[in-house]
Amino acid sequence: MARVFVTRPLAGTAVEQLRAAGHDVVVHPGPLPPTRPELAAGVADAEGLLCLLTERVDAELLDGAPRLRAIANYAVGSDNIDAAAAAARGIAVGVTPDVLTDATADLAMALLLTAARRLPEAARAVREGRWGTFEPQGWLGLELRGARLAIVGYGRIGRAVGERAAAFGMELLPVGRGDDLRAALARADAVTLHCPLTAQTRHLIDAAALAAMRPGAILVNTARGGVIDQAALVAALRAGRLTAALDVTDPEPPPPGDPLLTAANVFLVPHIGSATHAARERMADLAAANLIAALAGAPMPHPA
Ligand code: GLV
Ligand code: GLV
Repeated sequence: MARVFVTRPLAGTAVEQLRAAGHDVVVHPGPLPPTRPELAAGVADAEGLLCLLTERVDAELLDGAPRLRAIANYAVGSDNIDAAAAAARGIAVGVTPDVLTDATADLAMALLLTAARRLPEAARAVREGRWGTFEPQGWLGLELRGARLAIVGYGRIGRAVGERAAAFGMELLPVGRGDDLRAALARADAVTLHCPLTAQTRHLIDAAALAAMRPGAILVNTARGGVIDQAALVAALRAGRLTAALDVTDPEPPPPGDPLLTAANVFLVPHIGSATHAARERMADLAAANLIAALAGAPMPHPA
């Protein structure tokens, strides 16, 4: 039996599965992340940690968790965890791949369609009593068939977006590591980001990359906010050069008064890429399986 700290109530049955495996599980209550002191207290005597992308797991935190052997991140990304610090302490780290691929790809398409067809502005016009008549020249947007979509990061989620976009008749411009990003940006009518956040991809979409995009192009981000230099994006939005539809920002949420919140031509949703019942329940299953395996001394089925 091991002590496990879970940083939030989750969809699905992870806690039940951990308890059925004999573990002593403490769940941080409520919808908000534990504060740093609450997190430190939670892991102080824990052997297992089930945490979210909102929890920063660094060397300092791990130094205060001498019994910790396993961390299951309830996410496919693991940029919130210092992998080297965990490895140096012999702590296994696991993630939840595959089960959220379709949900995230669906959201990327939803954001792309939202921006392409100007749904937020059109819906606002209706609500505000500005639907006068059928407007032959009103609300014109981008038709997806024949449009070019740059897919930056061509892993599981990028490919799943590619399948969907191909079904809409789009021309795909996949950009993997080592491919010419600028050339793809210069050709694309829309750009969707699907790379992990690493030292190499932080601010990959910087002012120069944004300047390389075609005027009026659409930028979709369901990956990590830090992949975009957000100050440069705000400047491009203010200049009316681009439209953005973002599921992720840096930080999350943007603080009150952040210029991104009020910039023109930006549509924001609160990091809901994996937010389907099916994906979140299966993420809980994978996180539980990772912890149960590692606490039993076996390899995690889904290591980071
Ligand atoms: C969500 O962003 C995840 O990494 O699962
Ligand atoms: C539009 O609604 C049309 O009938 O063309």
